[in-house]
Amino acid sequence: MRDGFGLSRREAFFVVKGIVIMDRTIEWDDGVVRMIDQRTLPHEYQIAEFTDHTGVARAIREMYIRGAPAIGAAAGFGLALAAQNSDATTRDELLSDLNEASDILREARPTAVNLFWALDRILKRASKESLRAPDEIRPAVLDEAQQIADEDVEINRCIGKNGAALIPAGATVLHHCNTGSLATVDYGTALGVIRAVHEQGKGIRVLVDETRPRLQGAKLTTWELKRLGIPQTLIADNAAGHFLHSGEVDAVIVGADRVARNGDVANKIGTYKLAVLAKENDVPFYVAAPTSTIDMSVAAGADIPIEERDADEVTRIGSEHIAPDGVEVANPAFDITPQCYVTAIITEKGVVYAPFEEDFAEIFQA
Ligand code: MRU
Repeated sequence: MRDGFGLSRREAFFVVKGIVIMDRTIEWDDGVVRMIDQRTLPHEYQIAEFTDHTGVARAIREMYIRGAPAIGAAAGFGLALAAQNSDATTRDELLSDLNEASDILREARPTAVNLFWALDRILKRASKESLRAPDEIRPAVLDEAQQIADEDVEINRCIGKNGAALIPAGATVLHHCNTGSLATVDYGTALGVIRAVHEQGKGIRVLVDETRPRLQGAKLTTWELKRLGIPQTLIADNAAGHFLHSGEVDAVIVGADRVARNGDVANKIGTYKLAVLAKENDVPFYVAAPTSTIDMSVAAGADIPIEERDADEVTRIGSEHIAPDGVEVANPAFDITPQCYVTAIITEKGVVYAPFEEDFAEIFQA
């Protein structure tokens, strides 16, 4: 049984309409995972609460929460719920329950590597030989999930600071998708760079790509920039080439869902087109991402799985059908930008330039 927001009865009971404003996109609150429901923004601010890992997996799949770092944090707290809810009485039973929950969470979305990174990190901690009893493992799982969330905020502030140095005073930057507080635990990656420039008083204006089909730019990025008082202009995706050619864009800045070892970048569909247009017009193209988004196990972008989403996202805008019934649709949610189009990748550990693989190896060794 579902209500108008697509929530089960149990979840709907927990929805708080416009009352509580959360400090972070996602929080652990006394055994419950609370997250801002991003599906109803900018018009309705709602908080959804989840008490088991299957609910969190659904929240990731159905985009209550989205953006690579936010998805990683959600997966971590999902595993903490699984640990809390398991009635295992031995170490092996609990680890088996955690692995089962992790498999369900892994299925939620395929492209953002932070999901898998967070789950692997927590499972590694949970399986430490020194943790023998379930009551030692349960708090360790929650502690690791909380650390992932806390670290994310600090990491994003570092990315912001590192990236701000690349953006000249008074710049106009073009931004795609959502990379702000909502796409992370707080502060944002590419939007974190924009925030840092703004906080430094350098002056910045953002051209916000609407980002069809889910309109993360039009719905979420505009909402965040408005709350932060950062000047912005919303544009249709198709207008980006016009603005890049006109000479009024000083830099393009985007986030990433997964970066391959060679520097190829998987990000929201439409990113590749922007990168090519940026190069053609001599505009720097920056990618801001935490090192947890760099997947050293993947050699090149061609090996990154690209999520194919529901045809409805393309055939409708909101509740309105815009295409004839039954039309064939392709809806890849991400694309690959080859590293030759990337001017630099801004991480919390510094700014990386081509050849990316060498610098990535150094970062991970350090
Ligand atoms: O499908 P989404 O909304 O999860 O896609 C989000 C993006 O592509 C973001 O740009 C990316 O995750 C970087 S987030 C800091």
